[in-house]
Amino acid sequence: MLTGHKLKALQELIAASSKEEIAWINGYLTGLVGNGHSNGNGHAAASANGNGQSVTTTVKKVTLAFGTETGNAKKLATNLAAVAKKKGINARLIGLDQYKITDLPKEDYFFVVISTQGEGEPPLPAKKFYDYIHENQLSLPELKYSVLALGDTSYPLYCKTGEDVDARFNGFGAKRVVELQRCDVDYEADAQQWFEKVLQYLDTATSLAPTIVPTAAPIEKKAAGKKYYKGLVNTNINLNDRGSNKQTFHIEISSDEKVEYEPGDALAIIPENKKWVVEKILQLTGIDRELEIQTAKKTASVEQLLTKHLNICYLLSSAVKKYASITQQEIPDTRMDLVDLLRIYPVKNAEQFADVVKMLPAIAPRLYSISSSPNAHDGEVHLTVGKHSFQAKNEERFGLCSEFLGELPVGTAITFYIHKNRSFKLPAADKDIIMIGPGTGVAPFRSFLAERDSTGASGKNWFFFGEQHFTTDFLYQTELQNFVATGVLTNIDLAFSRDQADKIYVQHRMLQKAKELYSWIDNGAYIYISGTKDPMSKDVENALLLIIEEQGNKSKEDAVKYLEKMKDENRYEKDVY
Ligand SMILES: Cc1cc2nc3c(=O)[nH]c(=O)nc-3n(C[C@H](O)[C@H](O)[C@H](O)COP(=O)(O)OP(=O)(O)OC[C@H]3O[C@@H](n4cnc5c(N)ncnc54)[C@H](O)[C@@H]3O)c2cc1C
Ligand SMILES: Cc1cc2nc3c(=O)[nH]c(=O)nc-3n(C[C@H](O)[C@H](O)[C@H](O)COP(=O)(O)O)c2cc1C
Repeated sequence: MLTGHKLKALQELIAASSKEEIAWINGYLTGLVGNGHSNGNGHAAASANGNGQSVTTTVKKVTLAFGTETGNAKKLATNLAAVAKKKGINARLIGLDQYKITDLPKEDYFFVVISTQGEGEPPLPAKKFYDYIHENQLSLPELKYSVLALGDTSYPLYCKTGEDVDARFNGFGAKRVVELQRCDVDYEADAQQWFEKVLQYLDTATSLAPTIVPTAAPIEKKAAGKKYYKGLVNTNINLNDRGSNKQTFHIEISSDEKVEYEPGDALAIIPENKKWVVEKILQLTGIDRELEIQTAKKTASVEQLLTKHLNICYLLSSAVKKYASITQQEIPDTRMDLVDLLRIYPVKNAEQFADVVKMLPAIAPRLYSISSSPNAHDGEVHLTVGKHSFQAKNEERFGLCSEFLGELPVGTAITFYIHKNRSFKLPAADKDIIMIGPGTGVAPFRSFLAERDSTGASGKNWFFFGEQHFTTDFLYQTELQNFVATGVLTNIDLAFSRDQADKIYVQHRMLQKAKELYSWIDNGAYIYISGTKDPMSKDVENALLLIIEEQGNKSKEDAVKYLEKMKDENRYEKDVY
């Protein structure tokens, strides 16, 4: 704290300064502190020349790297790079998938914006970078860095990737110049604050003339957490006909409150665990179902916790390890349902099980692309949910959330939140769009078409849809045919894979229409893919590359560059899972 003549001098300086000059002083001092310009006596070591310019700093290399899966981190890093440029800071913007890892020791300032995906994993394009910094011990004593971590507090491992990257750089001896900032799905205000700190730091650290230039937007007041909505299930029907191998539920949810979303966004929901499994656990452990337990996020009865809040399905091996430690048993490194653990490696007593309950992570939310349009379906949100099936222990099992949603009776109250997908958005009304969405991939395109229909958008619309059989699996057949009849859908191409001897998929239909498809693309059409990541989205991308190569008379490499450029222009977007 300042006292005596120093305080007086500061007060005099402030009294004699304009608002802008005070803002400048603020930025300058923040930069000095962030830059570590302090000597042993706590005095600022950097000096200012007669013009108020820092004389200790030189222009250095600033890199802004992003690791993203659904585009949020890229969008934020791009905004920051643009604002930095306006301030005269030449920041290099780069995706971590493109980043040459051997450049790290040559960096001066390295800022990372990165999300967490899967179960606490890095986004796929950042995996190589993430693995490298975890598998190698680097020495980066000169590097100054900071990390903006995107995540979702509803996941058990909140912002884990950002935390890991931050910890590794710290371990490499790099200097953290702005504290790690974690952001929930409503990340704007927190990200903006991190931006401000980074820019203020860079302002002083990299420029000879630190100036306070306003950033893109003023800092919004942060609301208390993300917005949860309460809704009622109005409709829940199976879109597949009798005899189909599939079950796809069309679910309509109404809410008294206006749900803020745009076509391309998803709805996030936390499923409940199956009642019979919870009963089995209560029976196996002998615990009192009414016993109140305090966990990291929630205090409630054991029954409530096991039903609505805690993950008991397919526990991560880290949770199995904790179980082994609490129950003091040797358990192989594996993933397992809690009920199976309890059967094979029983707890000693109810008290020991209470300790197990305390360490269980929360149930992770599941996302579903919204299939309604805010303009066409006022007061409602629609979902298109495929009942997910898989093999485990030699039997067919069903996914927790998709089964839970499929079984929700009309009238059930549910809680949800909106997951914004900023990189899967309709373009301007006059642009043409090509939508490729087999199976539940139809969901965002039903939203796109309804939105374009209700807003009278003039751009052309082409939809590729596929499923197993025409008679049982043509999801939203009547609606799509109506869109064709009214001219909203300019083209529709269908691929029913099992209606003939040879399997026909959407990518085959695309290749059959290669010439027309390329002419749309070359005329500026936007391409969207939605549905299964593997193998569908990869097969579709390969077909697109082939079409660009053959129809555009390009080499393979040029076709890849062409699609990359489309990606950069937001003309090639994916919503795949
Ligand atoms: C942006 C986005 C949009 C999406 N949009 C849609 C959409 O519009 N429609 C749609 O239907 N889906 C959509 N999804 C997928 C959806 O979020 C869920 O992933 C899907 O419904 C499966 O969830 P589940 O809870 O039913 O399955 P889970 O229970 O989570 O099971 C998933 C997988 O975990 C493994 N597993 C689980 N339990 C066990 C066990 N006991 N033993 C062994 N393995 C096990 C299996 O491999 C299984 O396949 C979307 C996903 C994303 C990220
Ligand atoms: C399938 C999936 C899994 C996710 N897993 C996590 C997680 O384990 N921890 C977390 O904090 N956030 C998790 N998230 C939330 C994302 O990090 C968050 O939505 C972020 O804004 C995405 O940024 P991106 O678009 O740059 O990838 C997950 C999101 C999805 C879609």
